[in-house]
Amino acid sequence: MNEEMHKYFTPPDLKAAKKRGKEEVSVLEFDRIPEEMRRIGEGKKYLIKTYGCQMNVHDSETIAGILEQMGYEGTEEEEEASIILINTCAIRENAEDKVYGEIGRLKTLKTEKPELLLGMCGCMSQEESVVNRILTKHQHVDLIFGTHNIHRLPHLLFEALMGKEMVVEVWSKEGDIVENLPKVREDGLKAWVNIMYGCDKFCTYCIVPYTRGKERSRRPEDVLAEIRELARKGYQEVTLLGQNVNAYGKDLTDREYRFGDLMDDVRQIGIPRVRFTTSHPRDFDDHLIEVLAKKGNLVEHIHLPAQSGNSDILKIMARKYTREQYMELVRKIKKAIPDVVLTTDIIVGYPGETEEQFQDTLSLMEEVEYDSAFTFIYSPREGTPAARMKDDVPMKVKKERLQRLNQLQDAISRKKNEALRGQILEVLVEGESKKDPDVLSGRTRTNKLVNFRGPKHLIGQFAHVRIDDPKTWTLSGTLAGDERIGQVGS
Ligand code: 5AD
Ligand code: SF4
Repeated sequence: MNEEMHKYFTPPDLKAAKKRGKEEVSVLEFDRIPEEMRRIGEGKKYLIKTYGCQMNVHDSETIAGILEQMGYEGTEEEEEASIILINTCAIRENAEDKVYGEIGRLKTLKTEKPELLLGMCGCMSQEESVVNRILTKHQHVDLIFGTHNIHRLPHLLFEALMGKEMVVEVWSKEGDIVENLPKVREDGLKAWVNIMYGCDKFCTYCIVPYTRGKERSRRPEDVLAEIRELARKGYQEVTLLGQNVNAYGKDLTDREYRFGDLMDDVRQIGIPRVRFTTSHPRDFDDHLIEVLAKKGNLVEHIHLPAQSGNSDILKIMARKYTREQYMELVRKIKKAIPDVVLTTDIIVGYPGETEEQFQDTLSLMEEVEYDSAFTFIYSPREGTPAARMKDDVPMKVKKERLQRLNQLQDAISRKKNEALRGQILEVLVEGESKKDPDVLSGRTRTNKLVNFRGPKHLIGQFAHVRIDDPKTWTLSGTLAGDERIGQVGS
């Protein structure tokens, strides 16, 4: 490592990430991009490849916003791009394997076109082992920056373009909250809005509290102003984002204002649909349920990760609730919002999980009757407590459990969708279906995908669709009566 590189190299450190202090988080404004950097991208194109969750998708929208302020234009073609950035996910090993594959594949392009700038960002950049591997084995990468360094992109890019060495800047301790970041949103209909960053739950399997830092909430006035602006621009739906959205406000020292209060204020904004993801059962308080029950633009869909149906497994996962407490919460939610759709995340094959413990997860699934579930085989993540736990469950057994779980969920999803046969649902029409351009597709308030035949001018509007062919994962229907219902829901 030479002097020049050392200047920019701040290695990630999982231990430092865990040692979080009580220092106050400052709110900074994103500076105007310095004059000398504003035209760097003129006549050049960028391509961002995004892996992982909605948080990453939205971070990519911010990165695109910054690059466009530097004069770059977006492209989907690798050959046309002067910059290719890979926004990575670290949640499971297979997510990381895909990224390594992609970085390896892009080496050919980089050799043919040495002026191409190849960068990596996102959650993998926060891992020491990953950065070391890139530094030693993938020296064709020009730039690595972490999840707390996005606002520094203009400077880092400038350095990477000017110098010959790999530029690495990854802050292990979370940065401040940066407001006013530019964004290029994916579509004009649905928008992501960050309400908080980080996670302090430290579930024993999860890398997120290390890669995304401590919980810090944006100021309510900033969140509400952003949503109002989106409403003004004609957006029909917003999804409030955070690793743990219902911890919102706990860290605000100057006021008592929580997620329920925020949702109550968002309810007053003229945006037809408001979703949120992801919530933690432990922080789901009665006030929030009360507010969600008021409905209006607050949709009747809650993603409520259970992870397991067995209290002993939940304990070693450090989820901080038992099966009974989770079920009690489900009962409360269903009582307050009878038509609620619940979805979940489940991990099978946790270190030491017995057949009986797994059966508790199956029975939880049956008892709650989720409309759908994301199911995963446990994947050890270096630096997390679970990675050090003894695991005597063979991979073959884990795979079988996943299959049994998925079969059960499919049957429940099918039954749930079957119950919608003949019903007329409000659908936000998003575009042509992927399979057939003569078919339109959109989503219900509960986020179910609906396909139906209808005129193209309905795209971007709400329509009423009668469900006549429910399937396991999607619904097919026909346009009902007064086809166009404009902006409804609020
Ligand atoms: N292995 C498997 N699944 C995981 N998840 C998080 N960490 C791991 C891991 N190490 C799952 C959880 C979480 C979802 C986003 O990913 O179910 O809710
Ligand atoms: Fe990970 Fe979610 Fe647990 Fe936070 S709450 S540690 S993001 S699983």
